[in-house]
Amino acid sequence: MSNNKSAHQHLQQSVSSDFYMVENTLIIGLGMIGGSLAKSLKENGFSRKVVAFDSSVEALEIGVKLKVIDSGCTDIGKAVRQASLIILAVPVKATGSVLAMIKPHLQDECIISDVGSTKGSVIEAAKRVFGTVPANFVPAHPIAGSEKSGVEAANSQLFAKHKVIITPHAQASEKAALTIARMWQSTGAEVLQMQVEKHDEVLAATSHLPHLLAFSLVDSLAKESESLDIFRYAAGGFRDFTRIAASDPTMWSDVCGANKSAILAQIDIFSQGLASLKQAIVDEDEQSIKGIFIRARAAREHFGKMLTGTAYAADSEDKDVTFVLQPGAHLRGEITVPGDKSISHRAIIMAALGEGVSYLDGFLHSEDSMATVQAFRDMGVVIEGPHKGAVKIYGVGLQGLCPPPGVLYLGNSGTSMRLLCGLLAAQKFDCVISGDESLNSRPMERVAAPLRTMGANIQTSATGSAPIYIKGGQKIQAIEYQMPMASAQVKSSILLAALYAEQTSTIEQPAATRDHTEVLMRGRGLALQVTGNKVSITPGNVIPGFNLNIPGDISSAAFYIVGAVISKGSEIILKDVGVNPTRLGFIHILRLMGADIALLNQRENSGEAIADIKVCYSPLQGINISDEYVSIAIDEFPVLFVAASCASGETQITGLGELRHKESDRISAMVDGLRELGINIEEQTEGVVIQGGQIQGGKVDSRGDHRIAMAFSIAALVSSTEISISNCAQVATSFPEFVEKSARAGIRIRKEEANVST
Ligand code: S3P
Repeated sequence: MSNNKSAHQHLQQSVSSDFYMVENTLIIGLGMIGGSLAKSLKENGFSRKVVAFDSSVEALEIGVKLKVIDSGCTDIGKAVRQASLIILAVPVKATGSVLAMIKPHLQDECIISDVGSTKGSVIEAAKRVFGTVPANFVPAHPIAGSEKSGVEAANSQLFAKHKVIITPHAQASEKAALTIARMWQSTGAEVLQMQVEKHDEVLAATSHLPHLLAFSLVDSLAKESESLDIFRYAAGGFRDFTRIAASDPTMWSDVCGANKSAILAQIDIFSQGLASLKQAIVDEDEQSIKGIFIRARAAREHFGKMLTGTAYAADSEDKDVTFVLQPGAHLRGEITVPGDKSISHRAIIMAALGEGVSYLDGFLHSEDSMATVQAFRDMGVVIEGPHKGAVKIYGVGLQGLCPPPGVLYLGNSGTSMRLLCGLLAAQKFDCVISGDESLNSRPMERVAAPLRTMGANIQTSATGSAPIYIKGGQKIQAIEYQMPMASAQVKSSILLAALYAEQTSTIEQPAATRDHTEVLMRGRGLALQVTGNKVSITPGNVIPGFNLNIPGDISSAAFYIVGAVISKGSEIILKDVGVNPTRLGFIHILRLMGADIALLNQRENSGEAIADIKVCYSPLQGINISDEYVSIAIDEFPVLFVAASCASGETQITGLGELRHKESDRISAMVDGLRELGINIEEQTEGVVIQGGQIQGGKVDSRGDHRIAMAFSIAALVSSTEISISNCAQVATSFPEFVEKSARAGIRIRKEEANVST
């Protein structure tokens, strides 16, 4: 009701000269849809008067009695002459004859529309009757219905929060289109505009086919000899699937005629799908069967976003999340952190390219890693899970990926995008990859340029970022590449493309970066050599299926490590964390500042070092941080800035240029936030100078960057008053349970959530 009210208020503002938008609406056909619209227009005041015409006088009488209409009419000529708006709510097949009936009486200004579920046939009918489609005729289709029929079922709320598609033709009058749009808005519906052909195609797939399947399924079952038993024992699934088989048979048989070609095309697509499923069942091909079901379930889960053209949908994009933190806490006890993000991405990629089944444990179930999973599902790889960190991947081999059905959407995940660029550059098919606003503004030429040298056909936007267009079928050549920047993503991207070359490729980096790709590739038997900062790979080997236990992510542990170091009374043990030396830069830095951090129970699993990390509170001293640690502490600088703010004296850090190209410009985001919290910090082009001091309370903006949000949450452990951090939804990209885990560890954190209004 309130929805209607606000739509109506909005309407009144734009037509303030008159309370009513139209004087007299004539509904022709007083069934459930016509009745519901009439009732809504009457209740919300869109039309001064709502009249109906129907071949059934009884329907008109009931309409008046139930206050669905103001009056019924039997003289169609008179009713049409008096109408300023006419809505045809009759079966689509009757459109032509109704238009012919009203034509002689139509007034020039009268606007006409309909509610039919096909639009091409309605336009054709108008052409037949008028010679051309009248400018005042604007077809529309409310995507709301019910299996009920008749005016008795009229419901003025039927269209609220539902979509209505209007399909104005090229010659349609603007006023008429606007009036029809406003009319539907007044019912609380959301109005969309579409071309007639597109409408019929979309509706054939999303509405007509499901109805026909429901009718056909019930009909087939009813013919079986034990049908009584079948129906008697029908469970929820049957009921859910066949509810719409109770719809109006005349209307649906009309739809079949009115949208014949689009429906037949959809039946063909569906029949092929059913035939493949049948064949997989005949062959007892469990992998294909599961593949169909898993893809369908994932698609169903993300259905809303899929309709808008994105294959993978990140929940965080719809939420406005603020973290509110109270000061004066410390950390104690055992903490586990989620699986390593970098390894999770790489494990999916390698397993998908493997020949055979792979099993992962400890997989990070976050939005970024799921973007990679979804991308491979879109390319035909069957992936089961994650279920409590366990994932099962049915590898398709290096040559087994299939063209994705649409754009590969990678959300916020830079690692997915850069690594996939390398892999996709070497495939036989074309594809487009894209991400959210932040990802689509990050530099991608750093991967595109060397890949082009290898023979790839790859195009970035004018600013060198995504969307990225990759043309498949190129011959990939080996490369000798001197990387201009230290980046594990660039290195990994080239290594993946190099798997498809004929010769050995060599990549040299200016400084060490995380080497998880190398560890994983070597562990799978690929011919990979590492000498200093040089990596060489010789293609030719098959990747077998494998089992991998993914350790905890040290970049997530880093927040608690700094938290424990800076807050008095803290003592924690972080269990089973990956301590690969190429990730330990920040531990070296913290130790140099005086932190008490011990790696206990050190061991190795599949080439990756693992340990339990014990951290106690320890006073810190400001230092000059040398460039040598930057590339192996790259993601930890936001929280290291917090540590430096708590140290006594000055901390200088240089060589941080890469931080400006992360999920946000991390130098600027941290400088602004820490200043807001009372810290004296100088921003330089590639570094900062931080004077240790007392962190105050205040409001900061994480700029939609997960690591900035978590770093400021840690600052609150030692702040003088409350800290509120806006834009925190993206924490789900790397650490979905951050709030709950942090609260358990002692941090006084609360999450406030609102839906983003669009
Ligand atoms: C990553 C590498 C780093 C890091 C990112 C993850 C990876 O980026 O910042 O969060 O998994 O390869 P660069 O290698 O581009 O510096």
